[in-house]
Amino acid sequence: MTAAPADPLIAAAVAVRERAYAPYSHFAVGAALRCDDGRVFSGCNVENAAYPEGICAEGGAIAAMVAAGGRRIDEVVVCGTGPAPCAPCGGCRQKLREFGEPDLRVRMVDPVGRVLLVRTLAELLPDSFGPTTLLQTAPVVK
Ligand code: THU
Repeated sequence: MTAAPADPLIAAAVAVRERAYAPYSHFAVGAALRCDDGRVFSGCNVENAAYPEGICAEGGAIAAMVAAGGRRIDEVVVCGTGPAPCAPCGGCRQKLREFGEPDLRVRMVDPVGRVLLVRTLAELLPDSFGPTTLLQTAPVVK
């Protein structure tokens, strides 16, 4: 048996990955995020026989945070399957941007919690469109 990773955010991502529902891709993903109040939220991918209806691990973790009243993400860990880093998909990068600043650290780990890659959200999603972008333009009055 492998000991749980010492880093609590990594441990949460590794643990929730075990609960992934991925009967079609067989690619289990776990994601854990730390909110600005210190709470940790996690999610796993949940696939569906109607393939496009599946949801990503990061989206599940974000939904759990928002439902619990959290609004700001300070750090993220994504745990994929196999030896290659599971970088968040394009849609998840944008979802993370809604609640995280460009300097948000995203660590990608393997199924036993070894860190494979570390990126900022700005590196994953350069020149991003975020909540403040909308505030920069005066509303059009018709
Ligand atoms: N997946 C995630 O959960 N997060 C990502 O950022 C990349 C992809 C899931 C979706 C699908 O269930 C499986 O991985 C294979 O694409």
